[in-house]
Amino acid sequence: MFAKLNRFVKDLILVSGVGYLFYPFRKVLLFLYNLGLLTHWIHRNKRLPANTDYFTWGRNYEKRINGFEYILNRYQLRDQAFLYMEFGVASGVSFEWWLQHAQHPETTFWGFDTFEGLPENWGPFYKKGAMAHTEKAYVDTRYRFFKGIFQDTLADAIEQNRTLMRREGIKVILLDADLFSSTLFVLSQLYPYLKRGDLIILDEFNVPNHEFYAVKLFQECFYRKLEPVSALNNFYQTIFEVQ
Ligand SMILES: C[S@@+](CC[C@H](N)C(=O)[O-])C[C@H]1O[C@@H](n2cnc3c(N)ncnc32)[C@H](O)[C@@H]1O
Repeated sequence: MFAKLNRFVKDLILVSGVGYLFYPFRKVLLFLYNLGLLTHWIHRNKRLPANTDYFTWGRNYEKRINGFEYILNRYQLRDQAFLYMEFGVASGVSFEWWLQHAQHPETTFWGFDTFEGLPENWGPFYKKGAMAHTEKAYVDTRYRFFKGIFQDTLADAIEQNRTLMRREGIKVILLDADLFSSTLFVLSQLYPYLKRGDLIILDEFNVPNHEFYAVKLFQECFYRKLEPVSALNNFYQTIFEVQ
C-alpha cells in the first residue's frame, strides 16, 4: 500500500512539474547544502591536523608554503625519490617551489594545465580563460608538462608511465585547479594508483561547491579515506594523507 502511494506521489511530482519551483534556486541550495557539510566537517576535524592555524582571522596566501615545508620535513621528501603531480600549474609558483626543494635526482615532476586558463567559470568572479599563463621552461631535466585539459591528457600520461605510476614510494599530488569538475576528475583517475601514505594537497579546500565537494564525493564513491595532516588559512590549504 505504502509502496503504491510512494510511486503515485513520485509520478505526481514529475507530471506536475512542481520541481521547477526549485530550479531558480538550485545553485544557492547546493551552496547551502555544501556549506553545512563543510562547517560540520571542519568542526569534527579541526583538532586532527598536526599543523594547523585554525582559527585565525584573515587569509595569508603565502602560508601555503608552510604546509609544503611541513610535509617536506615530516615525510623526509628532500631525501627520497617520489612522483610529484601538479594539476593547475599556471605561472608555476608552486611547481617551481617543489622543483627547488625536492632535490633527489630520481624525483619526477609532472605538471598538468591548459596554460590557456580555466576551462569553465569558477564562481561569479573567475571566468573561463582566467589564469592563462605561458608555459615556462626550466633547466631541470626531471620535469615534464602535459598541456591540455586533464580530461584529455591524464589518461595518456598514466598509460605511457604505468611502471612509474605503480612504483613503490610516495606520490605527492597538488590539486590546484580550483574547479569541482577538474578536481573530481583527477581524483577518480588517480584512484587505482593511490596508496596508503600518498599525500594530496588541496589549495582551495574550504570552497564549499568546488574542492570540498569533489573531495567529499571522491571519498564516498571510492570508499577511500583521506586524513588531514596540515590545514592552513582555516582549511583553505589542506593536505591529506591517503588512508
Ligand atoms: C589557481 S591556478 C594554479 C596556480 C598554480 N598552482 C600556482 O601556484 O601558481 C589554476 C589552474 O588550473 C588550470 N585548470 C583548471 N582546470 C583544468 C583542467 N580541467 N585541465 C587543465 N587545466 C586546468 C587552469 O588553467 C589554471 O591555470
